[in-house]
Amino acid sequence: MRQKIVAGNWKMNKTLDDALALASELVGMVNDEVRGDVRIILCTPFPYLVPVIRLVGSHPLISVGAQNCSEHEWGAYTGETSAPMLASLKAHYVILGHSERRQYFDEDGKLLAAKVDAVLKHGLTPIFCCGEQLEVRDKGEHEDLVRRQIEEGLFHLDADAIKKIVIAYEPVWAIGTGKTASAHQAQDMHAVIRLHLATKYGKPTAEEISILYGGSVNADNAKELFSGKDVDGGLVGGASLKSREFTEIVKSIL
Ligand code: PGA
Repeated sequence: MRQKIVAGNWKMNKTLDDALALASELVGMVNDEVRGDVRIILCTPFPYLVPVIRLVGSHPLISVGAQNCSEHEWGAYTGETSAPMLASLKAHYVILGHSERRQYFDEDGKLLAAKVDAVLKHGLTPIFCCGEQLEVRDKGEHEDLVRRQIEEGLFHLDADAIKKIVIAYEPVWAIGTGKTASAHQAQDMHAVIRLHLATKYGKPTAEEISILYGGSVNADNAKELFSGKDVDGGLVGGASLKSREFTEIVKSIL
């Protein structure tokens, strides 16, 4: 059985006090209400990783992750944060290749492949994002683009390494816009991604990889979006900033 995952991407939001309040409300709600096999991941801004990791402790369901990291390990890279640093904090996940990083920070496939390697080398799990812009979908090229993003970022890995990856399909036109893909569109793309993984690594390996949907997931649409057989959970932005709503999203995968 593939791991079900609901990950919150807090992006660049919240003061420290507000971040800790959110994390502690979430821990309380998860303890009271969430029964079952789901991995909940809180991807916080860098400065809040240590306090949130301390607050969450060794929770059986909740882990903490970063939203990016450097492809380099150490050295003169002012302002950067590396995978060995994150590992030393006991962060367990790192979002890589989010469309905001691809778009605003020019992250391309080659760079992301190097980041994936750095993250895996230090025992963290990449949450590797892919997804098309609206113009690309309108031209009918979304499947090709997403296959290419997966190839560029991940296909240098061997079968053991690819099994350690979590993939998030996030159509760019659905991120932060209130527009979601339909459950049908999400399932179709997840199936395309899984088939592409199967072509390269074989079906049994592809069947083990969790593929999350992201893009305006909320408490009202999560159950339907997560209903596709290849949809193993979600990567949630805006709705992860509200403890009640995020908890409802988590419950909808169970
Ligand atoms: P959203 O963001 O849920 O606010 O659309 C999702 C994401 O960017 O990961």
